[in-house]
Amino acid sequence: MTDEFMTVATVEEMPNGTVRVVRIGSYDIAIYHIDDEWYAIDNICPHAGAPLDEGWVNDKTVTCPWHAWCFSLETGRMTMWDMEGVDTFDLHVADGNVKLNPHPRPKPVAEPAAEVNAGEASSGEVPDSGT
Ligand code: FES
Repeated sequence: MTDEFMTVATVEEMPNGTVRVVRIGSYDIAIYHIDDEWYAIDNICPHAGAPLDEGWVNDKTVTCPWHAWCFSLETGRMTMWDMEGVDTFDLHVADGNVKLNPHPRPKPVAEPAAEVNAGEASSGEVPDSGT
């Protein structure tokens, strides 16, 4: 990842509640200005390729317009199952311009499915069987 940021829109062009798609390299990147926050995610749904910018946004989640898979705008991860989801990108606003880093963020690490009882697993002691 680099610190390269490029201007992709002006704030004036993207009032609150709008989304815009920019093509950079091999990515179509959807830039969202929602509830006064900014997000950038890969616009192509990994299920069958729907354009996510045509989906519905609610509570920092976009729902795919074709089959309703849901992705976090913050992390790109699917919200229904523990699957990887879509790439996300850093962006910020400076001097009235929306600046995007065209290199995807590292993918977040999945949460472990279940916790192991660390006390039992690491003590090395064999429980007393009572015999
Ligand atoms: S194409 Fe997005 S859920 Fe199927």
